[in-house]
Amino acid sequence: MTAARKVRKAVIPAAGLGTRFLPATKAVPKEMLPIVDVPTIQLVIDEAVRAGITDVVVINGRHKGAIEDHFDHAYELEHTLRERGNTKLADAMSAISTMVRLISVRQKQPLGLGHAVLCAREAIGDEAFAILLGDDLIDNDNDPGIAQLARVYEATGAGAIAIVEVPPGKEHMYGIVAGERDATGHMRIREMVEKPKPGTSPSRWAIVGRYVVPPTIWGYLAATKPGAGGEIQLTDALREVSRSPEGLYGVVVEGTRHDAGDRLGYLRANLAYAMKTDLRKDVIELCREVLATADKP
Ligand code: G1P
Repeated sequence: MTAARKVRKAVIPAAGLGTRFLPATKAVPKEMLPIVDVPTIQLVIDEAVRAGITDVVVINGRHKGAIEDHFDHAYELEHTLRERGNTKLADAMSAISTMVRLISVRQKQPLGLGHAVLCAREAIGDEAFAILLGDDLIDNDNDPGIAQLARVYEATGAGAIAIVEVPPGKEHMYGIVAGERDATGHMRIREMVEKPKPGTSPSRWAIVGRYVVPPTIWGYLAATKPGAGGEIQLTDALREVSRSPEGLYGVVVEGTRHDAGDRLGYLRANLAYAMKTDLRKDVIELCREVLATADKP
């Protein structure tokens, strides 16, 4: 790996309105909704930290306070916990505030995902960086999803994005890529389209919310005009990256993917993560109970 290519910074867009989770997201950012007892954004930042990322730029709209507060010290809380002898929990709270250097940037107008990422330009500067979307969780305790992409970038100098094959008929919900595998074993992307109209998709390979992109993306983002849904789309700027000499790889990331941006996906993620905790036995019991009563009127 070239030292100069080390990925150290990440952008987490968190400025969405969270309409799919209203009223829960009326006063609380969607990213703070918990998976069992951990806010979704903490799981995402933990993935980044485990991949060696030290600086995270969170793009926020309304409610920036809750996310900033969560990653800051909570002296009173920690002090009270310690006084009560709950040192372990106090240490855990303190560790959250030191896990990452967090910069928060406001997206003043909801102009789209590409625009949200562009808001981080000054904070990131002229180096490759990761983008992690909070709606997508990639569960892999040993090899974080974003680390798998960072390795592809570090080895090749090309950007890398996570892809997954979606069932027929679901293509219109995603950014879709098409291309061929090359000697690296990954897909060399030659086509990209954001939310293709039904029946027009070039493949079933959908973009999952993990990207590692070279700094050339800034110029492309700045030049990107509104696309699908009238928004400035990240996918449209990435298409330009894919056409540049370095190109862009689609990588099938190892790990269990959860779409926590959807109510059912969110419930599924909660169950899956609960199964990894001390609640495991009780969760199995609970599922049996639910099934047993499901058919009763
Ligand atoms: C965004 C991206 C899309 C990608 C998806 C993954 O869409 O624009 O390309 O496939 O995330 O979750 P959104 O889900 O924000 O509409």
